[in-house]
Amino acid sequence: MVVFSPSILAADFTRLGEQIKRVDEAGAEFIHIDVMDGAFVPNISFGFPIIKAIRPLTKKVFDVHLMVEEPARYIDEFIATGADIITIHYEADRHIDRTISYIKSKGIKAGISLNPATPVEFIKHLIPKLDMVLIMSVNPGFGGQKFIDYSLEKIKEVKELSEKYNSELLIEVDGGIDKSNIKKVVESGANVIVAGSSVFSGDNIENNLMELRKVL
Ligand code: DX5
Ligand code: ZN
Repeated sequence: MVVFSPSILAADFTRLGEQIKRVDEAGAEFIHIDVMDGAFVPNISFGFPIIKAIRPLTKKVFDVHLMVEEPARYIDEFIATGADIITIHYEADRHIDRTISYIKSKGIKAGISLNPATPVEFIKHLIPKLDMVLIMSVNPGFGGQKFIDYSLEKIKEVKELSEKYNSELLIEVDGGIDKSNIKKVVESGANVIVAGSSVFSGDNIENNLMELRKVL
């Protein structure tokens, strides 16, 4: 089964609540929430108050992607916003095993994200304790960028590791996914698809989501 996690970074923020309800009703399983700190990535998005404000609008899984330096400083606050999955970047945390264990000790699902240039090999030993691996298929920081093709090879590598060490692992892919490449992404082993622009564009959420599913 393939799970859809629309990224609200591409939503119309003047009508954020309404658009979240629409992706919920259109059948998206997760809501992807991109938090950017202006240090780990060259952009600033939104933080705790926004996530808290939208939490009561849907029961769907809050899939919180932290593009934040030293995310360990903020795990408790993100848990308090109602996050269901917290994903931190391998490149942002020198003691990532400790932070992952901490997130899990709080009863929340934990994920690690890898920038395009970061090898899958670096997290091999963590696979058994992870709930999710997030392969970035663009350089993080902005929506609407072009999919980087070598990500497909990395998805396959994660899939192989999950077959060996963790059959429950969620394999999420984020960045530049649209109708033209979603099939290849899923065939390579992804089971959670993040889509920003290709879901929210043209205020056509329901139809866009349906078109993406149809290709699979
Ligand atoms: C990029 C974010 C993505 C982004 C995806 O740094 O992590 O979640 O919103 O947007 P699209 O689907 O437009 O590439
Ligand atoms: Zn993201």
